[in-house]
Amino acid sequence: MTSFATHHVAVRDTRLAVHTAGSGLPLLLLHGFPLDHGMWARQEPLAERVRLIVPDQRGFGGSTGPGPESMEQLADDAVALLDAVHIATPAVVCGLSMGGYVAQHVAARHPDRVAALVLVDTRLEADTPEVRAGRVDLAAKVGRLGQSLVAEAMIPRLLATSAEAKAAPDRAAIEAELQRMIVSQPVETIQAALAAIGGRPDMTEAVQQLRVPALLVVGAEDALTPPACMEKAEQLIPDARLLVVPRAGHMTPLEAPGVFNAALLEFLKLVTA
Ligand code: MLT
Repeated sequence: MTSFATHHVAVRDTRLAVHTAGSGLPLLLLHGFPLDHGMWARQEPLAERVRLIVPDQRGFGGSTGPGPESMEQLADDAVALLDAVHIATPAVVCGLSMGGYVAQHVAARHPDRVAALVLVDTRLEADTPEVRAGRVDLAAKVGRLGQSLVAEAMIPRLLATSAEAKAAPDRAAIEAELQRMIVSQPVETIQAALAAIGGRPDMTEAVQQLRVPALLVVGAEDALTPPACMEKAEQLIPDARLLVVPRAGHMTPLEAPGVFNAALLEFLKLVTA
């Protein structure tokens, strides 16, 4: 199996850790909150077919510096990162949840850099005032009590909760991976990201202008961005197809990697045809 090489590259006003593997069509994988590149470990086999570029977004994982200020900033980072790793041709941009917010902004702000879009367990809408207030509250609590509070609050909501999903053989390993990733993110990054996510704009108008194919994937048991979010996106994005994955929650690429990877490869045939 191909294995990732890790680089640290100067990107705008920061340094990003980026994990790359494979060759051919570039596929950028943007992680969710409050995670890092590690959430894409089960996508490594895709490197047999494409060139994977898997960053830790600013402040997360092995990337240094303060956390994000906005989804627009993270989108511009992503494109500067493609430049830094010498990718001039349009890339397939795939993001989960927060990564999906960023991917939407990459497509809106840098359409010439995007060959196709893959939105996973995410939504188009901005936060409601209640959700935003919840993020402010969580940021204050993390400051007082540390990252383990976020892990405790989020992990049960990140994964599918049906008896069948809970009985999956790798369930305990996935929970342990999420725990390790969440508690290793700096408190300041978590707080900055909560504010940046809470301040993101509504993208329902912008995505109607997309001119590239889009694959939408959501876990049937996603409690944070339920299938209805992606069903709405399917109606609004001009060239979109939706896959609802059984027995998966908000972490479809981790919980159902076989189904996810196969769907992605099938979709990529459209891009390379
Ligand atoms: C994520 O998984 O990135 C977060 O659930 C995003 C969010 O809180 O909106």
